[in-house]
Amino acid sequence: MGTRGKKLLDLALLGLFFAGLLGLFLPRRLHEALGILFLLGLLLHNGANAGYYRALGQSLRNVSQRVNLANIMLLAGSVLALAVSGVALAGWLPLGEGVNWRAWHLGASVAALVLLFFHLLRHGRRYVRGRRFTLLAGAGFVLAAVSFFALPYLDRWYHTVVVNPAALVAGEKASLPGRVLTVYFSRVGNTAFPEDADAVSGASLMRDEAGGLIGNAQMIAAMVQNAAGGDQAAILTAAKYPAGSRDTVRQAKTEMERGTPPSWRVFPRVNLAVYDTVILVYPLWWGTLPPAVAGFASEPALAGKRLVPVVTHGGGGAGDSVEDLRKTTKARVAEEPLTIYSSDIPSSRQKIADYLKRLREKM
Ligand SMILES: Cc1cc2nc3c(=O)[nH]c(=O)nc-3n(C[C@H](O)[C@H](O)[C@H](O)COP(=O)(O)O)c2cc1C
Repeated sequence: MGTRGKKLLDLALLGLFFAGLLGLFLPRRLHEALGILFLLGLLLHNGANAGYYRALGQSLRNVSQRVNLANIMLLAGSVLALAVSGVALAGWLPLGEGVNWRAWHLGASVAALVLLFFHLLRHGRRYVRGRRFTLLAGAGFVLAAVSFFALPYLDRWYHTVVVNPAALVAGEKASLPGRVLTVYFSRVGNTAFPEDADAVSGASLMRDEAGGLIGNAQMIAAMVQNAAGGDQAAILTAAKYPAGSRDTVRQAKTEMERGTPPSWRVFPRVNLAVYDTVILVYPLWWGTLPPAVAGFASEPALAGKRLVPVVTHGGGGAGDSVEDLRKTTKARVAEEPLTIYSSDIPSSRQKIADYLKRLREKM
């Protein structure tokens, strides 16, 4: 292959790689097709540069050449991890059931992006030199750095995660003494989502394999109840929040600033008086409790009971929510809350059991 052919192939390969990254937010089949094309292009790229491998014996004399080879090997490893996790996610081969292939795929793509940057830094001068090379390298560095942090975040916020609730919920038991009630508040159940669940996309949503929506706090509450035993109920607002997550965020802010919480109820109706411990599962909203959760916490019937906060969040941890809970409730709030980052929910069942066991030891 001539220099021109190699250049075209390398450019196409680069384009396919970035199209693959963006394809994360495009239809699945398109993403898979881009992935296959990228792998085929990579085979051609290696074939066109076979001379490098043939002369490998003589070309490993200095540190720079060894670093280059290490970079190529790591890049090959990350592409292999991308391919294997991609095949597993596409369901083409029944690979490792319990493995979080999504996390592998995302991690491998971020690793490949960073390693590709160093690969281009070394070999890009074949095609671009001087000031243009420096500029492009600078832009590439910014892109790699931004993607390193942004990709996992964007993936979680713009991609619904498909889970098997039954498989996630089951796990080690860590029952608490006395009667236990798990109460949760979640966006799902309190939002006017369109009838057609497929039309719903956006922040922090999970689906079961049949396409049904599951809220983050709802999923956690099911895991908590399975571990702790006892009953479960949901906090439901009388009026639903709007389907768009940004609209909900805005409406929540208005409610908090104006001090106009929505009216709510607990479903199914429960007699709070009979419980010793209430595990309260909620999402962090604007760094604190969603207004309906604050309303529930202020229920007089909770006075003297043990209240265990379990917080799901998008990076803010428990925020000020536990301090605010202490100010709001007459219940005895557990010293340490359990916090679960929204992306970690599918793999948090054991963390929940461990937390409950620690809690039980302190009782
Ligand atoms: C109105 C609103 C405000 C939010 N504010 C925060 C926040 O301040 N900090 C944070 O880390 N996450 C925030 N989030 C993200 C949620 O806490 C997170 O996505 C959670 O897992 C959602 O749980 P759910 O699906 O049960 O509602 C907010 C989400 C919404 C809808």
